[in-house]
Amino acid sequence: MAALGRLLHVATLAAGMRRTLGSLAGSCLADRHVWDRLHSQARRDGLPTYDWFFGYEQVQYLLLPLLKEALASRPLRVLDVGCGTSSLCTDLYTKCPYPVDVLGVDFSPVAVAHMNRLLEGVEGQTPLCPAHPASCLHFKQADAQALGSVAPSGSFQLVLDKGTWDAVARGGLPAAYQLLSECLRVLSPGGTLIQFSDEDPDARLPCLEQGSQGCTVTVQELDPFRGLTYFAYLVQSSP
Ligand SMILES: C[S@@+](CC[C@H](N)C(=O)[O-])C[C@H]1O[C@@H](n2cnc3c(N)ncnc32)[C@H](O)[C@@H]1O
Repeated sequence: MAALGRLLHVATLAAGMRRTLGSLAGSCLADRHVWDRLHSQARRDGLPTYDWFFGYEQVQYLLLPLLKEALASRPLRVLDVGCGTSSLCTDLYTKCPYPVDVLGVDFSPVAVAHMNRLLEGVEGQTPLCPAHPASCLHFKQADAQALGSVAPSGSFQLVLDKGTWDAVARGGLPAAYQLLSECLRVLSPGGTLIQFSDEDPDARLPCLEQGSQGCTVTVQELDPFRGLTYFAYLVQSSP
């Protein structure tokens, strides 16, 4: 019953967020203040995280084989661009059995402050605990279209984008290409960028192929989640 209540609550929240999004002009989604407002709304329900589309559980089968490459002494570096208040970074840190060094970035200070509070366990909460002793997790405020201050070139083996291209592209494709270009710049040779989205491959693949020449672009349809179809777009840089 509690699970059903939570499910209905999450579904209602998601619908509420979608309505809010639907009522915003597309270009507003490029505005940091709009995101600050949305992230504060998501917080009012008291849940520790809010996920667009789905959470870590739904995609761990795809991520774990990539993360298995990490060495116990040298965690694999993972960047989540536009992390929001998603469970992706926190679950990677608390559930991934392999060592991971995870950085979540978002241009919303509201989202970043919330995730730092969650990580540090302020206000009587328990701090998050890593599943592997060598794992670490950080959150920083940064524009994903200009990551120079937080991410040197070639420094991440795995870059994750869950819904961020979708948001940025609402402000125009040039901004989305700039986001892609930054994700590829920070990717190490042979590294993988994964975009999770509900956008159809007919629309997304030509953009990714155009914006990531020299890389290998593939798409996987994910198992339907709450009746909706999602895709993982994988862009692998050359070794
Ligand atoms: C659709 S939400 C997805 C949030 C999160 N990845 C998830 O799956 O729940 C898009 C996120 O991108 C962030 N965002 C949008 N444009 C950005 C930019 N230029 N730089 C950094 N973050 C951005 C927003 O603040 C928001 O958290």
